Amino acid sequence: MLPAMEQPTITSAYRSVGITFDSLVFKSAVMRECLRLAASAAARDVAVLLLGETGTGKNLIAQSIHNASPRARGPFVSVNCSAIPDTLLEAELFGAEKGAYTSSDRLRKGKFELADKGTLFLDEIGDMSHVSQAKILRAFEYKEFERVGGESTLHADVRIIAATNRPLEELLQSGKFRTDLFYRLNEFTIHVPPLRARKEEIKALCDRFIAECNERFGTKIKNLDAEALSKLEGHNWPGNVRELRAVIKRACVSAQGETIRAIDLLLTAGADTGKLSPGATLAGDLSLAALEKKHIEQVLAQTQWNKKESSNLLGISRPTLDRKIQDYGLIRPNGARDE
Ligand SMILES: Nc1ncnc2c1ncn2[C@@H]1O[C@H](COP(=O)(O)OP(=O)(O)O)[C@@H](O)[C@H]1O
Ligand SMILES: [Mg+2]
Repeated sequence: MLPAMEQPTITSAYRSVGITFDSLVFKSAVMRECLRLAASAAARDVAVLLLGETGTGKNLIAQSIHNASPRARGPFVSVNCSAIPDTLLEAELFGAEKGAYTSSDRLRKGKFELADKGTLFLDEIGDMSHVSQAKILRAFEYKEFERVGGESTLHADVRIIAATNRPLEELLQSGKFRTDLFYRLNEFTIHVPPLRARKEEIKALCDRFIAECNERFGTKIKNLDAEALSKLEGHNWPGNVRELRAVIKRACVSAQGETIRAIDLLLTAGADTGKLSPGATLAGDLSLAALEKKHIEQVLAQTQWNKKESSNLLGISRPTLDRKIQDYGLIRPNGARDE
């Protein structure tokens, strides 16, 4: 059982909008485990790193962690690192003294300072440039910083939660992400599984989104039929839960009557790899090996060659996957043979 949360009182402009673990839909064992880890991290004030594809629920989990933590009454401040250019990041995070820039006529507090006694959520941290990474390391390490154009060293008591949809392992290996910063952020890593690895949750998520639509748009949808559900379960969901929500929203509005039918579901063309279509897969070579090769190839493509995730999805060990990649001569899309 996840811990029950006390509703925080609103004391700051920076407030997560009451998202708690209780507001998340989860049915699968993988998601239950993910949220168990998140709930356990919430109580412990460790830095949390959320890894997972876009739309898997990282933002919601970050807010839930904050609201379940002893900092719940403090601010939840969010920074989207991919949206801020290098030149502005320092001021955005650490603030700027009056006159630090020709255009600055007043002191501006940074997000780090605003998050004092609360949580700073650094979204899309994998997109942060090397220069910016160097700038934030010290603040994260010692909780100390200076405003741009400022002399005095300030201190803020901040808990950091970072998230990224990028394969950090690869960014570390290629030197694009600093290892020292990674270790600082990585006190507690949580992998948020993609929707295609928890398809048993699709029905419950649909029910949630249908209820949301009925409330927001005044639609009167009761359910979806078996064919519609099977179509959803067969999709591979590159946009994960966010994509499912959009598909259901559209279907609620376009459906005639009280039931969503397969015809109401507009799914991304060509992304339907969750179910094998024998015609396309087995053309020519009808051997089991050919099918296996094709399937592994598809799973690797889905996970952008994340071998850990692929071996989990395939239900085989990592060395077995490596061996099969070798045996079948599978090659990464960039042309380099995988080692
Ligand atoms: N477990 C969940 N329960 C209910 N809705 C969810 C869940 N996970 C994701 N969503 C929906 O998907 C959207 C995207 O989630 P978000 O946390 O922004 O994903 P990410 O940060 O990983 O890209 C949310 O706004 C919410 O509508
Ligand atoms: Mg996000």
